[in-house]
Amino acid sequence: MPDSRPALAPAAHAALRPSEYTAALIQALRTDADHIRDARVLEIGSGSGVVLAALGALGAASLCGVDIEDEAIASSSLLLGDLGHGGIAELYRGDMWQPVAGRRFDLIGANLPHFPMDPAEVAGRLPTWSAGGADGRLLLDTFLTGLAEHLAPGGRAVITHNAFVDLGRSRDLLARSGLSLRIALTTLVYIAPEKLERMTADVLRAEDGRTIHRYGPYTFGDVHIVEIGFTKIGPGAKV
Ligand SMILES: C[S@@+](CC[C@H](N)C(=O)[O-])C[C@H]1O[C@@H](n2cnc3c(N)ncnc32)[C@H](O)[C@@H]1O
Repeated sequence: MPDSRPALAPAAHAALRPSEYTAALIQALRTDADHIRDARVLEIGSGSGVVLAALGALGAASLCGVDIEDEAIASSSLLLGDLGHGGIAELYRGDMWQPVAGRRFDLIGANLPHFPMDPAEVAGRLPTWSAGGADGRLLLDTFLTGLAEHLAPGGRAVITHNAFVDLGRSRDLLARSGLSLRIALTTLVYIAPEKLERMTADVLRAEDGRTIHRYGPYTFGDVHIVEIGFTKIGPGAKV
């Protein structure tokens, strides 16, 4: 029987393509499969839906995605349906926590826009893809502040966190609601010239040679995958 669902336009596919951040997030999640099996999962900023797909493949009980872009919801819906996860998926177009007000989850994933720059279309992405405002914290702070009231008891979050966005401030914000963080892994991502030239000048000045590494015309940045929970968490710890 022919598939009557509308296909996603190629341009939308391209704009939502996974990045090195996506890959690092999936890598960290895959090393922790025991905690994902049967978990109620939420992803804020689900984009193409590929992180939810990876969580579905790891045996999550339910998959909830929130994204501000219509194309992202359409893409996630197609992908999760194609991969046989449609029956356990819920997708909402909306802003951050608003569509899931009052709900709690065992695992919350996020690869939020938090590159320190003002909104701009870079490398064919939508302006909402990467930009986190001057200090990169525009969405990150809202996410971290609202996290505790959406985590189930023993629940945790796994997120991408640029090393050139103040991790200490994230730790302090989380501590106010009884949460702590640990770095699960750190990797390098390539920063394209058109993105680097938009980076907030103060941040670039402070981080150049520290968390930003240049080799001639090629630039890389350190990115952490951070795990967040209510108790002090360590490798392999049940949280
Ligand atoms: C860096 S992309 C990550 C996409 C996908 N999770 C991945 O890793 O490939 C960030 C996503 O956050 C979404 N986003 C931006 N602002 C948002 C908001 N206020 N609420 C929910 N999602 C938002 C964007 O549309 C985009 O899909």
